[in-house]
Amino acid sequence: MVPKHPDVKPYLITRKLDPENQETPIHFIEQELIQTPLFYRRNHFSYPKLTYSNYFLSINGLVSTPLLLSMQTIQQLPSKTVEMVLECSGNKRSLFEPKVFGEQWEKGAISQGVWTGVSLSTLLGLSGISQDAKEVVVEGYDQGKRTDSDESFYYSRSLPVEKALHPDTIIAYEYNKKPLSFKHGFPFRLIVPQWYGMASVKWIKQISVIGSYFTGPFQRIDYLYYPNQENDDGAQPVTTMNVNSTIHKPLDMAILNTGKHEIKGIAWTGNGSITKVEISMDNGDTWTNANIINQKSSYKWVSWSHEWKATENGIYTIKSKATDSHGQTQPSKPYWNRKGYGYNAIDQIRVRVE
Ligand code: MTE
Repeated sequence: MVPKHPDVKPYLITRKLDPENQETPIHFIEQELIQTPLFYRRNHFSYPKLTYSNYFLSINGLVSTPLLLSMQTIQQLPSKTVEMVLECSGNKRSLFEPKVFGEQWEKGAISQGVWTGVSLSTLLGLSGISQDAKEVVVEGYDQGKRTDSDESFYYSRSLPVEKALHPDTIIAYEYNKKPLSFKHGFPFRLIVPQWYGMASVKWIKQISVIGSYFTGPFQRIDYLYYPNQENDDGAQPVTTMNVNSTIHKPLDMAILNTGKHEIKGIAWTGNGSITKVEISMDNGDTWTNANIINQKSSYKWVSWSHEWKATENGIYTIKSKATDSHGQTQPSKPYWNRKGYGYNAIDQIRVRVE
């Protein structure tokens, strides 16, 4: 892939150094596939120390045959490729009002690329899974203490058996047709299309089939929507991505000349596909359909554009609103929740024409 601006060195926006948490400046999200240097990074712990010479992936728990698979064995199994959006559930967290604690992600904790690996169902087919299986737990090699406990935990997440066995849920070892980079999970990471990024566990250490609901802290404390500030009533797990859109061009608070401008951006959803993107140039009073450039029914975002002729000087609030094939539309107000997940209110920027 040829970089679009070979003479410009792209940088990520740093939210935290250790663990490394960085997002993509949205003006670099110009191509369908995000290259590794521009791919956001979201980590709960410092990077794990791994020795690859004796790497084996363990598959255990409620299985007929527990397995220890070498990297080579896994790479020789039939491969599967999925192209998809990977969005952190905290993407756009900084936009919540009232504000919520946590990494203050703006609009760049999102990526898209081509993942190649082995279907998790292929591996579970080799080990066999018991009829009593309820969930499949995937544990990463990174670990550490959390602020709410003295215990040390590995980063682990579970999937219901049905999602784990979906052929597009894969253990990936390539990204954009190149070996997966260490920071994004080498040698193997889980890739779970349609779900927010927390499900896609990096640096897989082991896969365990269990007969109950997994209670690890990244499943039962974090990654729940808590609708109340004061208590945990009504908490619901974070799973599928919400319908969403982001305006990439112009940038927020840009100053423009009068004349023709292209308004550009992306829209995506977890469930189904994007059917419509509407644009408003007058703070939501009137809407017109944007031009969807690449209509896709897969797990990818669509790019959209709208030509705007700015004739009069002034300040304009531009909004974008996506709708998907399940009739879900971006709301005008986000669903506020205490940990700030799943922000998907109508996107907006302001520009001044002079
Ligand atoms: N896997 C491990 N092992 N450790 C982590 O901290 N973070 C998760 C997920 N998988 C995480 C992980 C979260 S919250 C997201 S959004 C994605 O990885 C981010 O993937 P990336 O760093 O490759 O962008």
